[in-house]
Amino acid sequence: MPGVTCQKLMSKAHDMSVPVIAIDGPTASGKGTLARRLATAYGFDWLDTGLLYRAVGLAVLDGGADPLDANAASAAASALGHAPDLTDPRLRLDTAAVAASKVAAVPAVRAALLRLQRDFAANPPSGAGAVLDGRDIGTVVCPDAAAKLFVTADVEVRATRRWKELQGRGFTVIYESVLDDLKQRDARDSQRAIAPLKPADGAFLLDFTSLDADSAFAHAISLVEPVLGRAG
Ligand code: DC
Repeated sequence: MPGVTCQKLMSKAHDMSVPVIAIDGPTASGKGTLARRLATAYGFDWLDTGLLYRAVGLAVLDGGADPLDANAASAAASALGHAPDLTDPRLRLDTAAVAASKVAAVPAVRAALLRLQRDFAANPPSGAGAVLDGRDIGTVVCPDAAAKLFVTADVEVRATRRWKELQGRGFTVIYESVLDDLKQRDARDSQRAIAPLKPADGAFLLDFTSLDADSAFAHAISLVEPVLGRAG
């Protein structure tokens, strides 16, 4: 069973010597914006873990292979190294996102990226704390995180946000195809055998369907402050 294999491959959960905020949720739920704002508010470092999967997906595409090819995907993950460059603008393209959600189902890819993510969580550059956002941060990568958040929003709302964002970046896109793409990625991320997207035990559930970014941030802070022991 792939999930069990991955659990065995993992080193023990890190000892949480610095506070970690784990944020999970589906594509375009608002978790990235929330993660960035929480990191800024607390002076923590932020890792958008989706970029790691996108980097693997893009490397597979650049090598002319199929992201569903497990051998090509695991070779690309191993070649990523300890400090991958996550600044390539092509990582933001939907081609990278779709490839990412395919390579993300490969156990060897997840095992390779797990080490990178745990290293970051245990040793963030600031030394103050870390915010990681993704799909399995609270369930697998940092199950002992000080605060775990699971962010959701209706798929139509997420598709509309994504569609507007793409239009704002100058892309001509059809809303229905954005919606269809999100549904397919949701299905792949939540139905895969290994580390599927789901709320972690003890996670706060935040539904951002009808909240703007400021309200969502305020709500998240009200939940996170008490558990970080920084209230008042
Ligand atoms: O968050 P994102 O859209 O950039 O993520 C791209 C893909 O990477 C997503 O479809 C699933 C995968 N992913 C994952 O499996 N686990 C993570 N922690 C982060 C992303």
